[in-house]
Amino acid sequence: MKKICVVGTGYVGLVSGTCFAEMGHHVICVDKDKNKIDILNSGHIPIYEPGLEELVKKNKKLGRLKFTTSIEEGVTPSEIVFIAVNTPSMEDGSADLSFVEASTREVVRFSKGYKLLVEKSTVPVQTGDRIKSSLSAIRNSKATIEVASNPEFLREGSAIKDFLNPDRIVIGVESKRSEKILRELYQKLKAPMIVTDIKSAELIKHASNSFLALKISYINAIANICEKVGADVGRVSQGMGFDKRIGASFLNAGIGYGGSCFPKDIAAFIKIADQNGYDFSLLKAVQKINSDQRLQIVKKIEEKLWNVKDKNIGILGLSFKPDTDDLRNAPALDIIQALLSKGAKIKAFDPIVNNKVKKIIPQVEYMDDIYSVAKHAHALVILTEWNVFRKMNLKKVRSVMESPVIIDGRNIFSLEQMEKNGFSYVSVGRPAVV
Ligand code: UGA
Repeated sequence: MKKICVVGTGYVGLVSGTCFAEMGHHVICVDKDKNKIDILNSGHIPIYEPGLEELVKKNKKLGRLKFTTSIEEGVTPSEIVFIAVNTPSMEDGSADLSFVEASTREVVRFSKGYKLLVEKSTVPVQTGDRIKSSLSAIRNSKATIEVASNPEFLREGSAIKDFLNPDRIVIGVESKRSEKILRELYQKLKAPMIVTDIKSAELIKHASNSFLALKISYINAIANICEKVGADVGRVSQGMGFDKRIGASFLNAGIGYGGSCFPKDIAAFIKIADQNGYDFSLLKAVQKINSDQRLQIVKKIEEKLWNVKDKNIGILGLSFKPDTDDLRNAPALDIIQALLSKGAKIKAFDPIVNNKVKKIIPQVEYMDDIYSVAKHAHALVILTEWNVFRKMNLKKVRSVMESPVIIDGRNIFSLEQMEKNGFSYVSVGRPAVV
């Protein structure tokens, strides 16, 4: 079993640390945010992620998972130190690596003997080189520190399952010793291991996220054509997805991607390509299609209601995707602001994030269920595909609405279902039910 320190208890750090402990390793998670560490030490978690709190509690109890604000306490006994701090976007789109740099310095300060320093956060290619040059600049004669890259591919909302059942494990290494350590670390997981140099491993992460975002923008572009010619994007993506070379996943048309990863990573990838002399125009188009897609839904609401001023609009779903409380780059926030600026009166319901959004947009009335949002609404707008929305009682919803209009940004209902229940229904890339 390995002794591991994970620096940074954000999404990736906390899930990775907890799952390493679940695999039997001894893990110390470090974060400079005392409030977060206090929450974790009291057996709770600072984010919403299904199943995570139970795993944290279990592994804490077994003595395999600890939380501290002291980087020294984490680094001293550990052979492997993961850097999982955040790498936010800077104004020009490039990744802010100051937290990576600062934690590297701290790790070096407290290192003695051999340490394997592993990049877990998503970082631009060549970050490993920068870490190595800062290691040699700091100089610590008591320690031998090697650098590796081990990008993470988990998704919010299904993070534990993704971590423990990955499609592949990617490690970028520079020595047999570091390869052996990382192979031993992951030996319990049944997944192919791709061993590369550090730069290729770094690139695999940005290239994968960008490709997934590209699939989403591609299907959204197809959805726009479908709307113009009267075709159904659901049938088109189904027909495409059966081709194994294309694959069926990430072909759901909607209001575009959000979250803390795709928007940030695509901007950073465009920037790093540019800095290295390549104009990544393909990804710029992906970005443009995505930002246009968000506002398409506002146009659809306006077209349907003619004028949104003083109309009651009910919003269902606020988080950027279901099963998470993450609001970073959530399309719902932009869409609500656009509607408010046009004078609409908004009620909203999200199963998890009502209170969080209330602090950002206090002008909205937040309700506790679907039916209170639907009451007297001129239109109901679906922005996140939470399961509870799929199961709503359509008859009841229709009976309380001012006019039976549903604008669905996630295509959760079939056209037949809407027609049968007497709704006027506008979705993405499919013919409207009038
Ligand atoms: C994404 C990647 O899927 C993970 O592999 C990666 O590890 C993670 O970023 C990261 O870099 O940390 P995540 O952002 O949690 O994960 O969520 P996704 O499930 O990928 O969804 C991203 C966005 O795409 C959401 O807004 C979702 O609604 C949208 N989406 C997804 C679509 O609009 N259509 C689809 O078909 C799929």
